[in-house]
Amino acid sequence: ISAKVIVDKEYVLSDIDERIYGSFIEHLGRAVYGGIYDPGHELADENGFRQDVLDLVKDLQVPIVRYPGGNMVSAYNWEDGIGPKDQRPRRLELAWSTIETNQIGTNEFAEWARKAESDVMMAVNLGTRGMDAARNLLEYCNHPGGTYYSDLRIKHGYKDPHNIKTWCLGNEMDGPWQMGGKTAEEYGRVAYETAKAMKIVDPSIELVSCGSSNYNMPTFPDWEAITLEHTYDFADYVSLHQYYGNHENDTANYLAKSLDMDDFIKTIISTCDYIKAKKRSNKTINLSFDEWNVWYHSTESDRGMQPWQVAPPQLEDVYNFEDALLVANMMHTLINHSDRVKIAAMAQLVNVIAPIMTENQGKTWKQTIYYPYYYLSVYGRGKALKPIIQSDKYDSKEFTDIPYLDSAVVYNEERDELVLFLTNRHLTEPLNIECDLRSFENFHVLEHVVLEHDDPKAVNTKDEEQVRPHNIGNAIIDNQSLKAAVPKMSWNMVRLK
Ligand code: AHR
Repeated sequence: ISAKVIVDKEYVLSDIDERIYGSFIEHLGRAVYGGIYDPGHELADENGFRQDVLDLVKDLQVPIVRYPGGNMVSAYNWEDGIGPKDQRPRRLELAWSTIETNQIGTNEFAEWARKAESDVMMAVNLGTRGMDAARNLLEYCNHPGGTYYSDLRIKHGYKDPHNIKTWCLGNEMDGPWQMGGKTAEEYGRVAYETAKAMKIVDPSIELVSCGSSNYNMPTFPDWEAITLEHTYDFADYVSLHQYYGNHENDTANYLAKSLDMDDFIKTIISTCDYIKAKKRSNKTINLSFDEWNVWYHSTESDRGMQPWQVAPPQLEDVYNFEDALLVANMMHTLINHSDRVKIAAMAQLVNVIAPIMTENQGKTWKQTIYYPYYYLSVYGRGKALKPIIQSDKYDSKEFTDIPYLDSAVVYNEERDELVLFLTNRHLTEPLNIECDLRSFENFHVLEHVVLEHDDPKAVNTKDEEQVRPHNIGNAIIDNQSLKAAVPKMSWNMVRLK
């Protein structure tokens, strides 16, 4: 099987907004307690943050982290998480049936994000609360001083405002599982009024209007159309969430699920632009794909979890090799829509459906999905190019005309480096790629990194890393053209200069 590709400097799709490499930390399972925060751990710093986790997050160069939820935010009182720690209430956390100790709250998380060299993307509670709590939280975080909430922050030890720029207007408000879930009309009104007040408190912020919880929601895409009619003037983005799993154990079909994500994005873009036309507006709403990942390995076992524990191990999917390939394809899809997708968040970052895992009182380890996330985040910055691709194709249970080659191409002008991200979806045969590099004269291969494994179900654990990349891929330049035999079922990064 083969694929022919043309890559040209002039075929620019967009300047990639680095925030598409964002992630997410929710007060859920061991993400916060036992994940980023573990004051008893030998590697904890003066704030109780695990330095080994911070190091891995910094390696990933995560530009923005969504917080504090997720479903959790829809019944969260942000005031519970500020002030002296010994006076903070323990609460029943209704989204995940746990006990929230509130030892980490807004200030601590802002502190952690600063150490992680990330920005915070803050979500407000539009489930059990609304406009009043949201505007107060914003005043607490971003107002310099001289008012009740900004002075309270100063009293709590944070003289300088956190200056949080990006805010989510609630979370998955269309979901029947959501505390205080709403109809599209109800949400549209509340989100509009909240957005209006928030932009008066701080006109420099950007707001994300809540989109459908996933592509299969019965109210999709009416939800987007109705809610955006309300929020259009104040919102800057609409959110998308999507998780996949290989429930049917059909790998060929599973690796194509990024095509479903691609359709989802296209439909949302159309819906945003339909409302733009209806409103005769000059403003374009962009997309925030602020929850995406594989999530299915732990769903069954989580059902039996004892309620009302503090930080139990929830949503601890152990990812395998084929999951890493789908994650790579999903990231390609984000890059290939980076003209409209400006923010995205791999959900989540630590322990909960995450690339980074920790042992309580022990070490950290990297899941299989850590690797595509790492390489795409670190090397996928610059201009997204639009390659012309002719690839052999196949059909699967849910999809037709699936190209064996899935790819994204990024040109980093500063470093004068061209990076090709390539997945071969074929389960048994190598893919012969020939890529015409035209305008990239005299470029040579810096490295060809390959993530491959004979067993699609191979996993990493705390004791053994079965799935890790090597950099002895076979890409060569021959007469202004890149040639590579990309191994069966593999993900590749070819970096050229
Ligand atoms: O990321 C896990 C959960 O998935 C989030 O809390 C929720 O927003 C989504 O349903």
